[in-house]
Amino acid sequence: MVLLEAAGEREIDIVPLVFDRFFACHPETRELFPNLEAAAGRMVNETLEALVGLAEDAWWVNTTIINFVDLHRNYGTISAAQWHDWIDMTIDTLAEAGGAEAAGLSKPAWQAQAARMKAMITA
Ligand code: HEM
Repeated sequence: MVLLEAAGEREIDIVPLVFDRFFACHPETRELFPNLEAAAGRMVNETLEALVGLAEDAWWVNTTIINFVDLHRNYGTISAAQWHDWIDMTIDTLAEAGGAEAAGLSKPAWQAQAARMKAMITA
């Protein structure tokens, strides 16, 4: 939460930054996004929401994760490395946007939830 608030206060839109990072590492995935503007915000938001949901052990979070993994079967085969990099890059970008102090306080907690999310996605 600290990181989300810090990034928000600095008014940094992390959505294009996460995608730039992801496409630099996995350029082969760029063609899967014919309408990037439409999907990009939803994809980053849902990633952050599910991580927060995991942190709170929210009742809806398992279903949310199952649903987005199912949805992505329509987009071809997404490798474990792609899933993992996406999640890590979202958190790294958020941590940079939030600044060193907030990242120091909060990034480890996000990474702990990321580990749970990765295990659920690739189970
Ligand atoms: C935690 C990880 C992820 C979450 C929560 C997530 C979530 C989403 C959401 C909410 C959408 C928009 C669906 C819609 O409203 O039409 C979307 C679209 C999409 N996602 Fe993800 N995503 C994740 C990871 C990935 C990864 C790793 C890839 C690999 C390439 C990927 C590829 C796509 C593609 C190709 C689309 C559709 C783009 C389009 O129709 O223009 N996603 N994702």
